[in-house]
Amino acid sequence: MRFDGPPLAGQFRVTGWSRLEACSQEATVPTRTVPTSTVPARPVPAGPVTASPVAASPVAGSSLKAARQRSAGLEAAIREDPGRFRVLTGDRPTGPLHVGHLFGTLLNRVRLQDLGVEVMVLIADYQTLTDRDAPGTLPADVLGQVADYLAVGIDPARAAIFAHSQIEPLNQLLIPFLSLVSVAEVGRNPTVKEEFGAAGGSSMSALMFTYPVHQAADILFCHANLVPVGQDQLPHLELTRTIARRFNDRYCPADPYFTVPDALLSDAPLLLGTDGQKMSKSRGNAIALAASEDETARVVRAARTDDRRTITYEPESRPAVSNLVQLAALCLETSPEQVAAEVGDGGAAALKQLLTEALNERLRPIRARRREVAADPGYLRQVLADGNERARALGRQTLSDVQALMHTRY
Ligand code: TRP
Repeated sequence: MRFDGPPLAGQFRVTGWSRLEACSQEATVPTRTVPTSTVPARPVPAGPVTASPVAASPVAGSSLKAARQRSAGLEAAIREDPGRFRVLTGDRPTGPLHVGHLFGTLLNRVRLQDLGVEVMVLIADYQTLTDRDAPGTLPADVLGQVADYLAVGIDPARAAIFAHSQIEPLNQLLIPFLSLVSVAEVGRNPTVKEEFGAAGGSSMSALMFTYPVHQAADILFCHANLVPVGQDQLPHLELTRTIARRFNDRYCPADPYFTVPDALLSDAPLLLGTDGQKMSKSRGNAIALAASEDETARVVRAARTDDRRTITYEPESRPAVSNLVQLAALCLETSPEQVAAEVGDGGAAALKQLLTEALNERLRPIRARRREVAADPGYLRQVLADGNERARALGRQTLSDVQALMHTRY
């Protein structure tokens, strides 16, 4: 039997890596002709951005700097020719999106959309199965997420909102992609490792284990060439890049099929919840976009502060207070230092008052729009159905191409 794919764990570095890396350099060179339709099946690879590929995990020092530099180059290329890019981003439908999502990623998606980039917004519903049964609230959560997207300004006329469980060809790509990575490589993914550590291997589902590979299918099925990420997610994208290169290397070395996607590193500050912990709705420390003004006031009132009277912005030594200051600054589009100076000796009570008003003011148009779209579930379903159809069309083409390249078309 011939086995010329990626060697299994252990042999990996010695025999495989340099060859695969060498291939990746070619893979980023545009070699295919551009489809002439207005919405290309595949966007043209980002040609002029020739910085070296973003390095893999651990994301430390120089590789993070390289990723930053590359992202700056990509931003310039986007402004120059947004039509060359297709962005894929998404969220798990685990409940209402909150201000952490808004400032961390949603506003950036709207910005890219408004620049003319084609944006694919993934509702990663299968990912809710990684650690639990699908909850009965899933249909409502998914439609709620569609409402959140529309409320912040994702425009379904320009962006496709879709749920990956509905895109059959996307999921079928998981099988060939699984053949391109070793168990050891997947096991090195920081998220998988963390889950493994937390749950103990015995209770981790195999779906959880393969989740970075599924994520590669999410990205590659539609030939997205740009994936906005926070720095903690760089390793995920690195596995997607590896899979794209290996596919090309194995099945079409002379004419690489998959574009190796780039990370677009977000410079959004990391927002914590109102208790100074990671923001998540299950902790009750998040301000949902859909929350009422009263709920917002309630969550802010319960926020953690510290016992120093004067409000300052010192993220290292006063993380909880600084986080509230930061959140107010984002709402008010000013600097955290400015907010801190304004509150000064007013103390925690004045800060909370200011923050509540800033949040409710900033979220008012979003909430109004959300109420409007949420009142019409038929419309939300139609938006999702249209997005699914768009995604399915892209996925069908990709799967058909992949089958031809893999000699599995009979
Ligand atoms: N893992 C992401 C989250 O938890 C969601 C997601 C799934 C995703 N597939 C993706 C994000 C592909 C970007 C690209 O929010």
